[in-house]
Amino acid sequence: MRLSLGSDHAGFALKEQVKAYLQHKGYEVTDVGTTSEDSVDYPDYAEQVGKAVAADEADFGVLVCGSGLGMAIAANKVPGVRAVQLMDTEMAKMSRMHNDANVVTLAGRYTEPEKAEAILDMFLTTPFEGGRHQLRVDKITAIEHENEQ
Ligand code: RB5
Repeated sequence: MRLSLGSDHAGFALKEQVKAYLQHKGYEVTDVGTTSEDSVDYPDYAEQVGKAVAADEADFGVLVCGSGLGMAIAANKVPGVRAVQLMDTEMAKMSRMHNDANVVTLAGRYTEPEKAEAILDMFLTTPFEGGRHQLRVDKITAIEHENEQ
């Protein structure tokens, strides 16, 4: 499975930790940066990861900033991205089963590495249920098309 991974400065430490974890588990990880704790702007990384997922260059995206919130807001501006900010494994499961989420965003300042790893395990291994949920995800996609500029 191919993953696109990115963070800003506030998510850098957690990004590095989850990168090692994901690579150890056999995922193919492409890290778009950032590469240090020097201040950068999270939308730049959200856009890169979102575009990689939307273009099917990655199966899923993983983004880390201080709260995970800005990354989710920014990544969701890329058509085809369904990004969710996750703090626990139950929501990770639901975001995959019902929403077919394709990008997970994590809170580097609030989430311990072990919790982040558990969230990622759940997110990356839970299948989309389809059925009535597919119809609803299709409606999300229709909103994107209706508002194309
Ligand atoms: C950076 O200070 C912080 O605002 C950013 O990492 C993120 O939490 C934004 O949503």
